[in-house]
Amino acid sequence: MHADVDRILFSESEIVAGIDRVAREVTRAYTGRDFTVVSVLKGSCVFASDLIRRIPIPLELAFLAASSYGDGTEAGRLEVNFFPTGNEIEGRNLLLVDDILDTGRTLHALKHELALRGAAEVRTCVFLDKPSRRAVPLQADFRAFEVENLFVVGYGLDFAGRYRNLPYVASLREAIYAAPKPGPV
Ligand code: XMP
Repeated sequence: MHADVDRILFSESEIVAGIDRVAREVTRAYTGRDFTVVSVLKGSCVFASDLIRRIPIPLELAFLAASSYGDGTEAGRLEVNFFPTGNEIEGRNLLLVDDILDTGRTLHALKHELALRGAAEVRTCVFLDKPSRRAVPLQADFRAFEVENLFVVGYGLDFAGRYRNLPYVASLREAIYAAPKPGPV
């Protein structure tokens, strides 16, 4: 276990089982329909890449970059850095994939924006769901795990840019939050 970690919430084997289940649900929902998985960078890249390899039906892949957290653990302004091109959105069934559904503001704003840009349908799939923090009424269509109200890292999720490469999901020791901003991993 990494020295900065307080507690592992989901181990590698639990993650595999959760993703297998969600991949089966997504496969059932989209069998016979064209769809595009839209991975929200950076946090969902690990989840999205494991997820799509367990979905045995045709799909396309697109990315968008959005961040709502800055360097800390409190929700900030949503910044959208880039979107898929028009023909990746217009008339398409999109499955928006994110690392964590927290207040819901990010996915709510992104769903709205993609619908405005002409998507036929926008559904959501999240690796983690933190329902206790919800500020807007949004439920994910698919989710791998529900998580308690803790700031978590690993499996794509970061604190100040670090810990995305941990193969499990964990909470950090309190001293890490109190310490000055760390350098790169
Ligand atoms: P909202 O509040 O818009 O947040 O649903 C979604 C985005 O906030 C980030 N987030 C976290 N990142 N550990 C993280 O590393 C967390 O516990 C956490 N909670 C929210 C994340 O970028 C997510 O896409």
